[in-house]
Amino acid sequence: MVHQPLVGQNALVTGANSGIGEGVARALGAAGANVVVNYVTAEDTAERIAKEIAAGGVETLALRADVSKEAEVAAMFREMCSRWGTIDILVNNAGLQRDAAFVDMTLDQWNLVLGVNLTGMFLCTREAVREMIRRGPRPVSRATGKVICMSSVHEVIPWAGHANYAASKGGVKLFMQSLAQELAPHRIRVNSIAPGAIQTPINRAAWDTPAALASLLTLIPYGRIGVPEDIGKAAVWLASDDSDYVHGQTLFVDGGMTLYPEFGRGG
Ligand code: BGC
Repeated sequence: MVHQPLVGQNALVTGANSGIGEGVARALGAAGANVVVNYVTAEDTAERIAKEIAAGGVETLALRADVSKEAEVAAMFREMCSRWGTIDILVNNAGLQRDAAFVDMTLDQWNLVLGVNLTGMFLCTREAVREMIRRGPRPVSRATGKVICMSSVHEVIPWAGHANYAASKGGVKLFMQSLAQELAPHRIRVNSIAPGAIQTPINRAAWDTPAALASLLTLIPYGRIGVPEDIGKAAVWLASDDSDYVHGQTLFVDGGMTLYPEFGRGG
């Protein structure tokens, strides 16, 4: 029998039209949740993903909103709650990179990355948490609500040439932990997933030639690049009552990337 721990729950996944977000949205749907597929570009893809998830027997909605825009975020949550009543699970996944040597980094590159990766989490989480507190506990879960933040191994691994991205993920770490402390009395669970190298469009240059992939694999003790399903499975667990006592944690799903792999070869 298929394990469907999220039946009857309503989830929203930001940036669910590609990469890790798509993998998470599909996994939550397969686990029985109704899923909002949020996107900001590529409406057709988002609609197709929503339709494919719905074929599994859950409800889905593809909703456009730029997570860094307060009014768009508010409108998206209003639409979700007017259709389905409330939200049980928020996955703050939307994120991007605009890489540059620090001396060349423009304010636009800085602001875009911080705006989507960090301010986007603030805006979406605030809407979700307000609604969770307003309606209180529901019989579908032991927790009043679950918030999952998509962090990165770069919440702990510094990354030259990516100061904006690493700063955003370092910010996610204490954003998540501070919220976990503040929201625990409401029984809203807040956790992060820190993916390592997952094969998606964001890091195509790191895997799309044999030489690039070989070089990437020197950083991954487990010897393979990750796939979105690896993160989807972790998200289902963190969203479900199976992890009911897990709170304020970052779950690293990285094939060992954070184990200082160079020290496996000497030191
Ligand atoms: C980045 C990827 C990178 C991975 C491991 C992720 O957070 O978005 O580009 O491959 O970390 O370094």
